[in-house]
Amino acid sequence: MIIGVPKEIKNNENRVGLTPASVSELVKDRNTVYVEASAGLGSGFADQEYINVGAQILTDAASIYGESEMIVKVKEPLSSEYDLIREGQILFTYFHFASSEELTLGMQARKAICISYETVEDHLKRLPLLIPMSEVAGRMSVQQGAKYLEKPQHGKGILLGGVPGVPPAKVVILGGGVVGTEAAKMAAGLGAEVTILDISMDRLRYLSEILPPNVTPIFSSEDTIRRLIKTADLIIGAILVPGAKAPKLITKEMLREMTKGTVLVDVAVDQGGCFETCVPTTHENPTFIEEGILHYCVANIPGAVPITSTQALNNVTLPYAKVIAAKGWKKACKANMGLAKGLNIINGQIVYEPIANAFNLPHHTLENVLV
Ligand SMILES: NC(=O)c1ccc[n+]([C@@H]2O[C@H](COP(=O)([O-])OP(=O)(O)OC[C@H]3O[C@@H](n4cnc5c(N)ncnc54)[C@H](O)[C@@H]3O)[C@@H](O)[C@H]2O)c1
Repeated sequence: MIIGVPKEIKNNENRVGLTPASVSELVKDRNTVYVEASAGLGSGFADQEYINVGAQILTDAASIYGESEMIVKVKEPLSSEYDLIREGQILFTYFHFASSEELTLGMQARKAICISYETVEDHLKRLPLLIPMSEVAGRMSVQQGAKYLEKPQHGKGILLGGVPGVPPAKVVILGGGVVGTEAAKMAAGLGAEVTILDISMDRLRYLSEILPPNVTPIFSSEDTIRRLIKTADLIIGAILVPGAKAPKLITKEMLREMTKGTVLVDVAVDQGGCFETCVPTTHENPTFIEEGILHYCVANIPGAVPITSTQALNNVTLPYAKVIAAKGWKKACKANMGLAKGLNIINGQIVYEPIANAFNLPHHTLENVLV
C-alpha cells in the first residue's frame, strides 16, 4: 500500500503520525511510505532519518494526499486540508467527530474511509489508542502541578517531596483510572503524601495492590472530597464517565475552603472538567487564578512532550497500520471487530452511531458496509 504522512498543521501540534522506526516496519512489509518534508522535526526526527529507513520525502501536503492510499496522522484534518482528501482514501488518525459538525460534514463530503484512533477497541473493550495519551497526561499532570506549586509561579510555595525533617506536600487525585494511576505513581515517586479517590471498589482494590505505601486509595464521596481539599496542596482531576460530561466534583463554593495557592490540574478538561471553575487553557497560556486557587486546564497536555507522545502513540497505532496496509481496510476490519469499531465514516456514510446522533444525521449499520 502507498502510505502518506503529512506534517501536522494544527496550532502547537508537534507530534507526527509515523516515527522512522514505524516507517522501517512498514517498508519491510513492502509498503511505499511518503513523508512530508520536516513532518517529524517537532518530534525530534529529521527528514534524513526517514530516508535512511526507506521513506521518500515529498515537499508538500498536496503531493502526500495526492499519492497515498492511506494517510496516517495524529490530529483531525483542518478545513484547509479537506480538499486534498480523495474519495476512498483511508484516513487513520484521531478525529473526535462528535465535537465538530463541520469536520463530520466535511469528511462525509470527501467520501474518505475515516478510521478514528479514539474509537478502536481491544478484546476487553478498552480504547487502546487512547491509553498512551492518558498515561502521558497523568504523568505530566504531576510535573506541571509541582512546577505551579512554586511561589514564582503563584503557587503556595511547597516542594512536593519535602526534605528530611519537613513534611511532603499533600496530593489528592480524583479518579483512579489510567490518568489517575500514572499521576499517583509520579507523585508518590517524588515523595508526596498521595490520596487517590475512585467509585469503583474493584479499581480501589487494584490500586491498593500496586501503588506504594505513600498512596492511600479511598472511596470517593462529596464528604471525603470536602475534607481532603482543606489540606491539599495539589488536586488532580482525572474522572471519566464514558459518553458523558465529567461530574463537577469540586464546585466554585468549595474553592473557598482551600488554602490560597493550592494548585488544581484538571486533566478531564476535554470532557468538560471535574472542577466547576475549569475553563480550557492552552500551552501558551496554561493557568488562571480563581478564588486564590491556581487552575491548570490544558486540553492537549501530551502535545507539550511530542518526543515521548509520538513514540507512545506509534507503539499502539503501528500494529493496526500494518494490518490495514497488508489486508486493506475492509478485510482488516472484518478480521478484527475491535479495529472495525474505529470505522466512523465510510464513503460519506456515518457508521458510528454516537456521531450520527450528535448531529441528527442518518446512521448506517457497519454490517451492511462491511459486506
Ligand atoms: N487533558 C488532556 O490532555 C488529556 C489527555 C488524556 C486524557 N484526558 C482525560 O482524562 C480523563 C481521565 O481519563 P482516563 O484515561 O484516566 O479514564 P479512565 O476511564 O481510565 O479512568 C476514569 C476513572 O474515573 C473514575 N470515576 C468516575 N466517576 C467518578 C467519581 N464520581 N468519583 C471518583 N472517580 C470516578 C472511574 O471509576 C475510572 O476509574 C478523561 O476525561 C480523558 O478524556 C485528558
